[in-house]
Amino acid sequence: MYRDPVQSLESLPVLPAALRPLRVGMIGIGTVGAGTFRVLARNQAQIAGRAGRPIELVMVAARNLARAAGIVGGAVELTDDPLRVATHPGVDVVVEVAGGTGPARDWVLAAIAHGKHVVTANKALLAVHGAEIFAAARQHGVAVAYEGAVAVSIPIVKALREGLTANRIEWVAGIINGTTNFILSRMEGEGLDFAAALAEAQALGYAEADPAFDIEGIDAAHKLTLLAANAFGTAVRLDDVQVEGITALQRMDVACARQLGHRIKLLGVARRTDAGIELRVQPALVPASHLMAHVNGSMNGIMVKGDAAGVTMYYGAGAGSEQTASAVIADLVDVARLEGTHAAQRVPHLGFHHHAMSTLPVVPCGAACSSHYLRVPVHAAGDSEAMSDALAAQQVPVRHMALADMEDPGTGPQVLVLTQPVRQDSLELALHALEAHPRVAGKITALRVEELV
Ligand code: HSE
Repeated sequence: MYRDPVQSLESLPVLPAALRPLRVGMIGIGTVGAGTFRVLARNQAQIAGRAGRPIELVMVAARNLARAAGIVGGAVELTDDPLRVATHPGVDVVVEVAGGTGPARDWVLAAIAHGKHVVTANKALLAVHGAEIFAAARQHGVAVAYEGAVAVSIPIVKALREGLTANRIEWVAGIINGTTNFILSRMEGEGLDFAAALAEAQALGYAEADPAFDIEGIDAAHKLTLLAANAFGTAVRLDDVQVEGITALQRMDVACARQLGHRIKLLGVARRTDAGIELRVQPALVPASHLMAHVNGSMNGIMVKGDAAGVTMYYGAGAGSEQTASAVIADLVDVARLEGTHAAQRVPHLGFHHHAMSTLPVVPCGAACSSHYLRVPVHAAGDSEAMSDALAAQQVPVRHMALADMEDPGTGPQVLVLTQPVRQDSLELALHALEAHPRVAGKITALRVEELV
């Protein structure tokens, strides 16, 4: 491994001589793996000083060995067999940065069964197989660390699991997918339509290998499940997340939201209510003056409301090679510090010790109550008054109503409405009835408004 000649490890006075290096085996050496190697090499003395011992990459599994050799040089053993890394006696901790959910599950479970700690940036893996993986880790007394799985550069898992432990968390909400935030920012700032903005995001390398994961909200749902589990001490429950992406979002709604003093963001929201927890990923309006409305481009922003701390906010890059490496290495430092500790003394995988995990129910999406934005196509601008009466007749409580300034070619006048809080199932019934109204010219668009206070 590369050694900085100026800051040799031997020159560090803080290293207890009794502690041997933490030996890392890495599965995958793509963008994140290569970044992790670079940052480990560049900052090795500081990292060792913080960890209390050196952290050394000793083995890498890669599909393309020649490419891997070009990245890590000759001092690291290379193999094309991930299971060799997962089970090798010379490896203390396995870093899984290959991605995917099938083979990655087998590698991680094999590593755990061989008594190795695991560090992963694989949100899909934990969202889908987290229950099984964390149970295996408890059984074998090893750590599974995953700061790189959520909003990579932002230490949000650490904030929830450690910094905010005094709090009863009320909600956690955020922009946790950089690709969709980039697309929405371009639609709003440049007036691009969805397809053009997605093409730009792909050209810049923000999107997942399958961009459907980004634009359909699945990647954000993976991350939200991990945030919610840590916030509320519940199991990882991907199937309970109400997920809606941005593929159906019209440029016109981005402009109309702006007219009403709001921005549209793809938000992941996990909220504690009297009836249980709400879990959703949806495009939603936030007031333009809200800090969350200023998280633009490919950046991520997360807010947490705790009963003692109040609202705290975290901002940073949600993707990138060294940005993810920052989180992966922080997890490695935590693992390096575990030497000699018993599992019961460690930070629990999901923030709460297993016996204290909660079984809070998930609120069905129809029962969730919030303000909404409505865009109602009408036949003539003069139909606004009739719409006001029709909304009242359907018991939709109106906070604000206006005629849209913007008309896309081929669309007629549009009545814009901000409602008072209303149950989603009641609203859906009301909109269904309204769409049959003779003055309504087409399908009504409805989006949630998140106040985040
Ligand atoms: N495709 C993801 C995003 C990468 O856009 O946020 C990081 O998870």
